[in-house]
Amino acid sequence: VTNNFNFLAPIYDGLAKIIFGGSLRKAQLLYLEEIPKNSHILILGGGTGWILEELDRLDKLLRITYVELSKTMMSKSMAKAPFKNIEVKFLHGDAIDLDLPLCDVLVTNFFLDVFTEENLRLIMAKLNAVLLPNGRWLCTDFVLIGHFLKKMLIKFMYLFFRITANLEGNRLLDFEKYFEELEFKKARSKKYYAGMIEAACYSRSTLTI
Ligand SMILES: C[S@@+](CC[C@H](N)C(=O)[O-])C[C@H]1O[C@@H](n2cnc3c(N)ncnc32)[C@H](O)[C@@H]1O
Repeated sequence: VTNNFNFLAPIYDGLAKIIFGGSLRKAQLLYLEEIPKNSHILILGGGTGWILEELDRLDKLLRITYVELSKTMMSKSMAKAPFKNIEVKFLHGDAIDLDLPLCDVLVTNFFLDVFTEENLRLIMAKLNAVLLPNGRWLCTDFVLIGHFLKKMLIKFMYLFFRITANLEGNRLLDFEKYFEELEFKKARSKKYYAGMIEAACYSRSTLTI
């Protein structure tokens, strides 16, 4: 099986912290506060589930559907319950095959980077179809940059995940291009970790308010 994060699950957050310090989390937290109460949020590839605790801490009623392929990541995430403010439905399986609900907010954090170009198009088209017309799509991920050492670090990470998780993707893609193809525009964004990581908030460019 490809994209198998079971083996990495126990060490994933620790490892991320060692390499990127607090940047990975800080970037993912940036736009969460702006999510209106009562929103239905669809989180894809949520990992160990720490983001659920952060969403609960916002003190807002939120409905969340949480999708995770890895059994180990999923049990870690489920162990974060009970929550005070958020209502979470856990969906275990491959996001490409699962029936996904309509939502107001999509969260794809370090999720799009696991796919080959073919599956990236598939999953993004599927997510586009379940996001309500004036919904927003929060995406935090690595960005392509020319700097030699940063390029090497990205290459090394793909090799590392190929070995440890049998990752299907083998290179970092320019996600913005695929968002644009689906007629999304980057409404806001902020770079972290010397420009290697970007937190972005996308909305439909066809939206007229
Ligand atoms: C690189 S990790 C990121 C985890 C988390 N978002 C974070 O930033 O800490 C990617 C996650 O996506 C999950 N995943 C990979 N392919 C998936 C798929 N096809 N459907 C659902 N989840 C998937 C993995 O199990 C893993 O937990």
